[in-house]
Amino acid sequence: MNDAPNTPLNTTPKPRQRVLSGMRPTGALHLGHYHGALKNWVRMQGEYECFYFVADWHALTTHYEERSVMERYVYDMVIDWLAAGVDPERATIFIQSRLPEHAELFTLLAMGTPLGWLERVPTYKDQIEKLKDRDLATYGFLGYPLLQAADILIYKAAFVPVGEDQSSHVELTREVARRFNHLYGREADFDTLAQAAVKKMSKADAKAFEAGRKDFQQSGGEELLARTRALIDGSGALSAADRERLEGYLRGTGKAILHEPQALHTEVRKLPGLDGAKMSKSYGNAIAMREEPAEVERKIRRMPTDPKRVRRTDPGNPEDCPVWQFHQVYSDVPTKEWVVTGCTTAGIGCLECKQPVIDAIQREQAPWRERAEKYLSNPKQVHWILEVGTERARTVARETMREVRSAMGLSY
Ligand code: TRP
Ligand code: SF4
Repeated sequence: MNDAPNTPLNTTPKPRQRVLSGMRPTGALHLGHYHGALKNWVRMQGEYECFYFVADWHALTTHYEERSVMERYVYDMVIDWLAAGVDPERATIFIQSRLPEHAELFTLLAMGTPLGWLERVPTYKDQIEKLKDRDLATYGFLGYPLLQAADILIYKAAFVPVGEDQSSHVELTREVARRFNHLYGREADFDTLAQAAVKKMSKADAKAFEAGRKDFQQSGGEELLARTRALIDGSGALSAADRERLEGYLRGTGKAILHEPQALHTEVRKLPGLDGAKMSKSYGNAIAMREEPAEVERKIRRMPTDPKRVRRTDPGNPEDCPVWQFHQVYSDVPTKEWVVTGCTTAGIGCLECKQPVIDAIQREQAPWRERAEKYLSNPKQVHWILEVGTERARTVARETMREVRSAMGLSY
């Protein structure tokens, strides 16, 4: 597969930037999950190096007593990822709790994170309000955005695709990274290592680099910085760690150990639940990704519509009807025009209006059902995929932890 068809053959392709995202295991996913997040995960696989994980510890921050369903929830969810087209050949899929490194980074970051940063995260008070039936006055619940920061930072992710509601967590992650780099950014032997890296460049480049560095630190200038930095990029003999070191050496900042990620909010058209409220298993208004076709038909046919259409002859307004929101996601322009005209003139009945939605959902689900079938009949394969993904993630997580321990003076 060629991800960058416009790259001329004589240039080395740029390493793909890393994307990281996680989902709490809540069991089989529904259409709201697919259109709100999963579809986007599938799309990003072509463009980025994607790491997707099951955030099972995160589920425990609110549902710590639910040990009987967790395993089933994890596998049902992963099967839906695979069914939707998350491709284990292209994306790294793994389970958080299989990587104690996440917990180690969480612990180390916790030491220097002010309580106020966590208390001020908007989801903290919101969720306590919303989940009144649970006792969320726990240490784990307060700390969970920091656990999320550890999840992200341990993979040095460039981008984190999340819903708007999670923006504040990515913002916290950035602050935590900045603080860490400020406190521990300079390796104890930074200058020696940086000078050794300069020696790995060609003689001419090394000389030009040293001259550029001195000039830049005395007088600054973006252009000089760019020109000197180009010497690092052009030097094939340097490892990634050396490049980073030289970057810090040039700027006079030391080595950035943790990377500030960016939240990625892609435009998604939200699919509401059958009653127009947010789709959620617990509200009983959801259609599962792997819902039986007959059940899809039954659920859509029973969906409430514009209450003004009491009789078939009463005109309605699509804006007051949840079915219209399904058309927004599933229908093409001519169909939508047919709905608007038909609804406002009482030219069509509601069951008639719903049929294209039923057809579109069933069509969308067919390949999911087919792929899921393959995994359901061979659960070993799912275990194997997670095994491979976990080991791939571990390689990266271990390397970061080595750097973190060393930066914090813990590498004895
Ligand atoms: N907190 C996220 C949620 O509740 C899940 C999550 C955990 C996550 N760690 C993450 C998302 C890291 C993105 C990146 O939905
Ligand atoms: Fe809703 Fe369609 Fe009925 Fe109008 S015709 S109320 S859009 S289901």
